[in-house]
Amino acid sequence: MQNNVRPETMERITTKALADAFIAEQVKEIREQVGDKKVLLALSGGVDSSVVAALLIKAIGKQLVCVHVNHGLMRKGESEQVIEVFGKELDANLIYVDATDRFLDLLKDVAEPERKRKIIGGEFIKVFDEEAAKLEGIDFLAQGTIYPDILESDGVKAHHNVGGLPEDMAMELVEPVKLLYKDEVRVVGEALGLPHGMVYRQPFPGPGLGVRCLGAITRDRLHALREADAILREEFDNCGLAEKVWQYFIAVPDFKSVGVRNDKRYEGWPAIIRAINTTDAMSATIEEIPYAVLHKITDRITSEVEGINRVLLDLTPKPVGTIEWE
Ligand code: XMP
Repeated sequence: MQNNVRPETMERITTKALADAFIAEQVKEIREQVGDKKVLLALSGGVDSSVVAALLIKAIGKQLVCVHVNHGLMRKGESEQVIEVFGKELDANLIYVDATDRFLDLLKDVAEPERKRKIIGGEFIKVFDEEAAKLEGIDFLAQGTIYPDILESDGVKAHHNVGGLPEDMAMELVEPVKLLYKDEVRVVGEALGLPHGMVYRQPFPGPGLGVRCLGAITRDRLHALREADAILREEFDNCGLAEKVWQYFIAVPDFKSVGVRNDKRYEGWPAIIRAINTTDAMSATIEEIPYAVLHKITDRITSEVEGINRVLLDLTPKPVGTIEWE
């Protein structure tokens, strides 16, 4: 396990020049390790797996097979971005699996958060396994393990990440960024030419919108959540908060309140805004959002999103509130 320890002499990658040197070294190492064999990668579109994909594409091109499983709980536009960037721009060997129905059918009527997580994690492995079984001659499995994952070997990522893969997959691992910290992965990602928005995107839980569509998920409420979340992200981009706030999202609970729209009674769900700052996600403070921005977001969500008739702001720091609602 010696090579799982970051050497004290290893310089922190903070510049394009240092990133380029790292990339050149990794390209060489990957080619040596893999030879002319094939490598499989579960590509979620998150920072770590995206950077690993870009590195491997540079090193071995079509010998890399990326599988993107859309569990139907992605934010608006995320799967489309994976297809655009990896499938089209980088011309990767990309298998796209739309498993939305499988996940949503399994999650029907399941309200308990940890059960929801288990179902999503378990089904992800199943879908990925099925895709892997269809392929022939794959000898390596690439993973976006980063150094904090190794340091926290009690497994925050292991139990958190939907990308956690079956242990019995008899493949040798390729983990080119396993000695890097998150900020370094981002510098490397930009040096590889990945879009800024992909490289600097906020953390997104593996179970995705599944833990923000509170209680038992329904398709209409999930759709409303996705649209409201997209509006929040757009407005945070517009006013510069996106660069400043660590994590921000909408949660939609499974109850309705009475309202009025076009002179008629209009029952809808509330959209809850959560915008927090933290360094390690163990504790979190609340970002102050200017009232003008809040009014704009409220106007847009209540007029553009079918099914939502109120917008609320969650002012609770962690502790006592966790970052996610469930
Ligand atoms: P909490 O809600 O525990 O969240 O304050 C702390 C951080 O972890 C993220 N989170 C998850 N990430 N799978 C993940 O990959 C999960 O099941 C999960 N639950 C919470 C959360 O978004 C926050 O950044």
